[in-house]
Amino acid sequence: MKKNSFLSAKVMLVAALLSLNTVIYAQKSIDPPAISEKILSGILEKNRAYYTQGKVADYIPELGKMDAKAIAFSLVDKNGKVFNTGDVHKKFTMQSISKIIALMLAVNERGEADVFDKIGYFGSDKPFNHFSNLETTGKPLNPMMNAGAILTTSLIAGDGEKPFLKILDMVRYITKNKTIDYNKSVYESEKSTGNRNRGMFYLMKNNGLISGNEDQLDNYFKQCSIELTAEDLAKIGYFFANQCVRFDGDATHKNKEIAKLIESQMLTAGMYEFSGEYSRNVGLPSKSGVGGGITVSVPGKMGIGVFSPALDQHGNSLAGYHMILDLVKQYDLSVF
Ligand code: DON
Repeated sequence: MKKNSFLSAKVMLVAALLSLNTVIYAQKSIDPPAISEKILSGILEKNRAYYTQGKVADYIPELGKMDAKAIAFSLVDKNGKVFNTGDVHKKFTMQSISKIIALMLAVNERGEADVFDKIGYFGSDKPFNHFSNLETTGKPLNPMMNAGAILTTSLIAGDGEKPFLKILDMVRYITKNKTIDYNKSVYESEKSTGNRNRGMFYLMKNNGLISGNEDQLDNYFKQCSIELTAEDLAKIGYFFANQCVRFDGDATHKNKEIAKLIESQMLTAGMYEFSGEYSRNVGLPSKSGVGGGITVSVPGKMGIGVFSPALDQHGNSLAGYHMILDLVKQYDLSVF
């Protein structure tokens, strides 16, 4: 009797060890390799040619001078380790990606209720420079499209270029990169051709949402002209993915609620009218800019930055989107 129970215990132990082994083996066989520059570079090369199907933005003449072939892919992992591949030193203007920094500052200063009393939380089927809903409800749809973003920047306290300098300082802080500045030629080009944005600015002034002068619109043009690299974008993505804690662990601005708000806006409207389809395919809070950059937050984990200036019809980097998509599929990064 004793011998039998000893035997069955032994059989059970062996069976348990075998199944444990199977689990470990199965895990080993499905786990993707650890993220490395080699992995990123493979994904980059696979998608490099997408630039031929896109178009560099030229509605701001200075942007049209970008090299369509330039491409970069960066990632900051959970531990703050940076991975870079491609044209890692290539600078480009952050454009609409600056809108998430402006939103953070406006909400920090005035509170979410005050800011979103003037701007909606809506997604959109309209392009980034659409006038919705300035002529119906009077309020911009969200802080990611131009109208809401221009209003957001006007809500940051300070005269003249002070609000812009706050945005620039925050970008420098998040990236720990004091060399970041704005590109004066792009700014001048934005300012001299930005009549549609000027139209929105005055319509919102007419609606009583904006009270200042055109310096406030200039601040928006300047923030769009801030120049950085894909690595800087990955660090911005990391910051919002990790409750506003910097990639090196600095927690000066730690704020879970602000990070949740920014990430939710990125998911809802960060890729403009493509946001819904993008959410289905990528499933991560992301923000694009017509300079060709996209910053991505993998909540609680990492930040991703991509750059390729040839854009799709929505104004989003085409190769950038495909690089993100491949990484997300390979590492199962979607939040859904
Ligand atoms: O307001 C504009 O036209 C630009 N400076 C920013 C727009 C932008 O980046 C749209 N993004 N995809």
